[in-house]
Amino acid sequence: MASFCLFLFLLLLLLLAAHGAAPVLGFTRSDFPPEFVFGAATSAYQYEGAVAEDGRSPSVWDTFTHAGKIADKSTGDIASDGYHKYKDDVKLMAETNLEAYRFSISWSRLIPNGRGAVNPKGLEYYNNLIDELVKHGIQIHVMLYHLDFPQVLDDEYGGWLSHRIVEDFTEFADVCFREFGDRVSYWTTIDEPNVGPIGSYDSGIFAPGRCSEPFGVTKCTAGNSTVEPYIAAHNMILAHASATRLYRERYQAVQKGVVGINVYSFWTYPLTNSTADIAATKRYQDFMFGWTLEPLVFGDYPQVMKTNVGSRLPSFTKSQSEFVKGAIDFIGINHYYSVYVNDRPLKEGIRDYAADMSVYQRGARTDPATSEYLPSVYPDDPEGLQFVLQYLTESYGGLPIYVQENGKASSNDILDDTDRVEYLKSYIGGTLTALRNGANVKGYFAWNFLDIFEFLGGYQSGYGLHRVDFNDKARPREARLSARWYSGFLKNNDIFVQSKIDDKGLVARQ
Ligand SMILES: *[C@@H]1O[C@H](CO)[C@@H](O)[C@H](O)[C@H]1NC(C)=O
Ligand SMILES: *[C@@H]1O[C@H](CO)[C@@H](O)[C@H](O)[C@H]1NC(C)=O
Repeated sequence: MASFCLFLFLLLLLLLAAHGAAPVLGFTRSDFPPEFVFGAATSAYQYEGAVAEDGRSPSVWDTFTHAGKIADKSTGDIASDGYHKYKDDVKLMAETNLEAYRFSISWSRLIPNGRGAVNPKGLEYYNNLIDELVKHGIQIHVMLYHLDFPQVLDDEYGGWLSHRIVEDFTEFADVCFREFGDRVSYWTTIDEPNVGPIGSYDSGIFAPGRCSEPFGVTKCTAGNSTVEPYIAAHNMILAHASATRLYRERYQAVQKGVVGINVYSFWTYPLTNSTADIAATKRYQDFMFGWTLEPLVFGDYPQVMKTNVGSRLPSFTKSQSEFVKGAIDFIGINHYYSVYVNDRPLKEGIRDYAADMSVYQRGARTDPATSEYLPSVYPDDPEGLQFVLQYLTESYGGLPIYVQENGKASSNDILDDTDRVEYLKSYIGGTLTALRNGANVKGYFAWNFLDIFEFLGGYQSGYGLHRVDFNDKARPREARLSARWYSGFLKNNDIFVQSKIDDKGLVARQ
């Protein structure tokens, strides 16, 4: 009897261990299923350069950077010169053992008037890039839209602020599905619809730089921080659903691909276990994830958003609700850090998104609180990624999830980026723990493959596995330690990846 009890006790321990698997320290590529993909990402405006070449028209980011809005006054005019160097870069991806590559399409390169005629040179560039990836056996993940909105449509009707965007976005997506869908199976419609509208229309730090007093972090000449972010996000959700439905009706049977949307993700811990802080944490998650995902999975915005935002939050008609509900095959997340959240009473008077959320947040427990858009420090927290993956699986019907961006910045000069190696290793470990705990995660993309123009920081800091020398016209690439580490990991060679990796030994062996 005693031994039976002991047996039960041990079984219980085992079950507990299996449920809340301990953080993974040592692992190799083969601990992940073979169909799980590992890749790296870039985006069009940040990577391509050649902004005035071969018929491309400006995006709102060309206008914004040329107005001197980036701290270092930089622009994406040349960026990493990917428009000219893509062939060598794909070769470099193959040498880095990438299994997949995520890039975005410059709408104003493909369709310079925003709608209508397709630019043959733009079409040729993306066809060539895709063919090159196919040739090297690299799985292709396309982000249709990554912040670089065509200036011509912003001028015409205010871009995402107008319902007219739904039709134009759908037509842009249609061109991409039709032209590239024979070789592309993974489509993400929109990058960060839960953050882009805040940067663009609330704080004003993203193009087209709109905001209103007292909310912007800069002085804006036009905008309305209290309503525009909600309108833009609403139109993004409708545009996403429209493109997804089009794909399902016209292409999916033959092309067999999937269409998802991307959300930016913090993991959120309650600062204390008080009821108010736990509710504040849930509210944060509803504002961050639920804003985009609840309509697409359940057909409407989270109740707490409807309550706190009130009439400033657009509503879905019954038919719109049915139209958006279920229009999603997978969730893409961009993930970097975690935040600690505590309750902040809902402010009377005019509010923007951050005020509507009514929380204080901080990047570390000991940090001073901020009610602003972003905390000031971000310690690494690989468990945060694990928790996000588990939370999204549990909350949104078990949809497949791709980690579409994850990485850490370093100064552009640095080649021996041991920090980044530690970061990637631990976050990939967090992904594996989530997978073992039942999260439906299907892929992981490092942000990013090489140094590019960063939307907030220009060229001062990079996230690249490969360094790009932006002071050299030829934009030469040079592998960082992280590129060598990732490549070794993906080759699944005999390097045992553990928490204290022998970085020197790894370099010596390569
Ligand atoms: C923003 O829009 C709201 C709702 O239409 C309006 O009440 C408010 O006055 C506007 N604010 C500004 C700064 O234009
Ligand atoms: C809150 O409770 C959980 C579960 O009991 C515990 O793990 C955590 O440390 C507590 N957090 C704080 C800030 O006390």
